[in-house]
Amino acid sequence: MKQFQSSELLKSLPKQFFAGLVKKVGEYIAAGHDVINLGQGNPDQPTPPHIVAKLQEAAANPLNHKYSPFQGFGYLKQAAADFYLREYGVTIDANKEVAILFGGKAGLVEIPQCLLNPGDTILVPDPGYPDYWSGIALAQAEMVTMPLRAENGFLPNYQELDSAALSKAKLMFLNYPNNPTGATASMEFFTETVKLANENDICVVHDFAYGAIGFDGVKPVSFLQADGAKEVGIEIYTLSKTYNMAGWRVGFAVGNETVISAIELLQDHLYVSLFGAVQEAAAVALTGPQDCVNELNELYERRRNVLITGLQSLGWNVTAPKGSFFAWLKVPDGYTSEEFSTMLLEQAHIMVAPGIGFGNFGEGYVRVGLLSSEERLAEAVRRISGLEIFKK
Ligand SMILES: Cc1ncc(COP(=O)(O)O)c(C=O)c1O
Repeated sequence: MKQFQSSELLKSLPKQFFAGLVKKVGEYIAAGHDVINLGQGNPDQPTPPHIVAKLQEAAANPLNHKYSPFQGFGYLKQAAADFYLREYGVTIDANKEVAILFGGKAGLVEIPQCLLNPGDTILVPDPGYPDYWSGIALAQAEMVTMPLRAENGFLPNYQELDSAALSKAKLMFLNYPNNPTGATASMEFFTETVKLANENDICVVHDFAYGAIGFDGVKPVSFLQADGAKEVGIEIYTLSKTYNMAGWRVGFAVGNETVISAIELLQDHLYVSLFGAVQEAAAVALTGPQDCVNELNELYERRRNVLITGLQSLGWNVTAPKGSFFAWLKVPDGYTSEEFSTMLLEQAHIMVAPGIGFGNFGEGYVRVGLLSSEERLAEAVRRISGLEIFKK
């Protein structure tokens, strides 16, 4: 067989840090161990039945068996606009300010290719969601990281950013509720972001993947609720987490119309839009009853409480996340994040994600997913209590 070489562009893609870990977990499971997997971010609950029923009905409609319109159906864009008005009081023009996406990840990877030329600068959070790096590599852009520190509530401190990098930057990624830290942002922070973006001509891309998941009665704010946000950026929303639709691949971008039309142009060349039945079901999800979203939020909050109070009772000084379905735990002294994760896997058969996989400022932490039942999380706490370092 001929060995074909990948392009230089493909070779420049970042390595998948977590692949090695996933392999190791597979080996433990194959060896017969009962591994509690808290390392990944795949929602464990099913899609609400009324959304599935709509998909089933719409799949039988021959109109949906044809190509969908290139930029998606107008009714789904309108549903997205209605959703933003109902949830956030933000007015969106469905014709110009919404682009339908094959999930949030597609939009996040496309955006740098839409707006950046090779060598252009983009600001990204550190720690941050690793898929941001993929789109940046494909656009051959330069990444400048914004440290997220506990003492600043895991928000970037714009004052500490290099002024040369700020004036060169064309794009900025933000993500609240945050993966991996579980932090949320305030309206004041987003207002400050709009000011910074205006002063430095930066387009802000706010990844609102966990927009529906906020704890202790606090609903996460949308970036578009800040005055002037629509002038300087977009928000990327996904149905993956809000409605447990990760496998369906559906999301949308809303905001600045020049950015939206750039996304649509790139997508015209890459794909035809989503299966019509998925679009119909997505519209029902956004505009139909929302009790399922409240129930899901309550479920994650109960799980969070089991984990955090359990770990605190062992004397581990951990902080409760304010949103998302992740807890970001400071590793005990004397371990790197990888050493601690390996120890948990080997000695307690628990998988967590080492913080270093999310960037240099993730060192010293592990990310724990709240995607297992309260019973399994309680069992994880019980196993951790048996580890030498937690024995009183
Ligand atoms: C921070 C963040 N953004 C975006 C996504 C992408 O989600 P999807 O592509 O399923 O919409 C995820 C998924 O894990 C995520 O954690």
